[in-house]
Amino acid sequence: MAGPDITPEGTAFRDMGDGTGHLRKGGESYFMWQARRLTNTRTFASLDHESETSQMKRVLTVKDLAAMGVGAIIGTGIFVLTGLVANDKAGPAVCISFIIAAFVAGLAALSYAEMACMVPIAGSAYTYTYATCGELLAWVIGWDLILEYLVGAATVSVGFSHYLAAFFEDAFNWKPEPRLMSAPFAYKDDAFSLTGNWFSLPSFIIVILLTILLCRGIRSSTRVNNVLVVIKVIVVLVFIFGACSFVKKVNYDPFIPPNTGKFGEFGGSGVLRGATIVFFAFIGFDAISTAAQEARNPQRDLPIGIGISLISCTVLYIATSVVMVGVVNYKELGDDGHGAPFQIAANATGQKWLSIFCEVGILAGLISVMLVLLIGQPRIFFSMAVDGLFPQIAARLHPTYKTPVMTTAIAGVICASAGGMFPVDLLADLTSVGTLFAFFLVHCSVLILRWREPNRPRRFKVPLGPVLPILGAASCVGLIAVDSVSAIIRLIVWLAIGLVFYAFYGRRYSRLNNPEKYAQVDAMEVVGGHHQSLEVKGSVHDGPLDMKA
Ligand code: ALA
Repeated sequence: MAGPDITPEGTAFRDMGDGTGHLRKGGESYFMWQARRLTNTRTFASLDHESETSQMKRVLTVKDLAAMGVGAIIGTGIFVLTGLVANDKAGPAVCISFIIAAFVAGLAALSYAEMACMVPIAGSAYTYTYATCGELLAWVIGWDLILEYLVGAATVSVGFSHYLAAFFEDAFNWKPEPRLMSAPFAYKDDAFSLTGNWFSLPSFIIVILLTILLCRGIRSSTRVNNVLVVIKVIVVLVFIFGACSFVKKVNYDPFIPPNTGKFGEFGGSGVLRGATIVFFAFIGFDAISTAAQEARNPQRDLPIGIGISLISCTVLYIATSVVMVGVVNYKELGDDGHGAPFQIAANATGQKWLSIFCEVGILAGLISVMLVLLIGQPRIFFSMAVDGLFPQIAARLHPTYKTPVMTTAIAGVICASAGGMFPVDLLADLTSVGTLFAFFLVHCSVLILRWREPNRPRRFKVPLGPVLPILGAASCVGLIAVDSVSAIIRLIVWLAIGLVFYAFYGRRYSRLNNPEKYAQVDAMEVVGGHHQSLEVKGSVHDGPLDMKA
């Protein structure tokens, strides 16, 4: 049954298990049969097989993985959203929003680490869910992760544009044409409006440049990433220590400004809603698990990498936000959607060098976030395509670079366009809510696996039995619930679009539930080796059915 995973020209196919779970049992009603197919799961044997035979290069060390985590974590969340949240949601108490978000992210990190050790293959929460909750939910999560990776990278590209403008202003006293630096749309009080701007050109260009870099291979990009991460951490430390002597006690009063009468605008509800938004700042540690197939020793290195990156970033965030709202009154941070609060705070100290130093480092830092998110997205598409849930073109690896070139390019263009057109707060909110939902499903997967596979070895296990995963799942739901109704509706609409796609494509081409459609390919591989399968594989762009139907 097991065919080779990747053919010479780079199309991958997966062994999904014993291949009988999709068959209708005697006496089973049609409805029950279809429902069972939706919850059919991949077997662990097939996951292990895939991990062992992966042809992605195993080059990433624990240092690379931790750097990848920090690279994805510190970004627009701290550099842009801190100011916006302090300004109209939490006031100086934005650090409490960070603490709440860190708690939720920390619980998710624990569950991620347990899952990443048990299922060390590419695909992130998508793969975990496929192994535990079945195909339908796996599809939902894979689709949902587009919000985290693709929309997340677009969000960061907007932050990049803001800081590029700030840098030109501070370093050269030059204001670039504002209509080419910002999005044409704004989003306030649940309605879009036109801003008068044309397009955020820097957001678009930077994503396209990074996409080209990524198409050439992960090794060169991890090296670049490691350097960028060091720069970014230095910038944050220099800001904290350079600005802390300019903190004024009066700026902390009132620490939590009274609620305006509207849910989410200051007061306790503002701090909570702020937590949902700054949750964006913690997104990224899970990107480490999408590189599981490229890690040298995934079982040991993934949890260590996730832990190191999350803990260090949390400490830096709390310190940064406390200093920022101490240097500048929260009313002046992020006013009128100003997206470069580090510029405001650094300029308030009167230390020009500090502003310019921070801006340069932040620009480099944001590049590293985009790199990691843009690495993650095509790899999830890749996993879904290998499972037959996504068009086969996404399962092609470049023959030399061994990267999923086509999906990297398509994801890059979509991301660049979104970054050019939409405002940062809308994109960040969409990303946060989508990611919280993904994390919720990861907690559920951990719980289901504890019950279904109690004896499977776990190099890392979340302590305290089921308590922490349950608390984690509840905290994700809690943070989603305090977001605006429109944000929740956007999530539901996005998931509904995904379900339509699944109904018309994934369900029909799924390898797990339609193994007979792939039997010809598998048989040819087993009998004749790769060469005979070339012709068939060459024609599978629109779905494996084409070769048989
Ligand atoms: N956590 C990343 C950021 O803040 C996505 O930019």
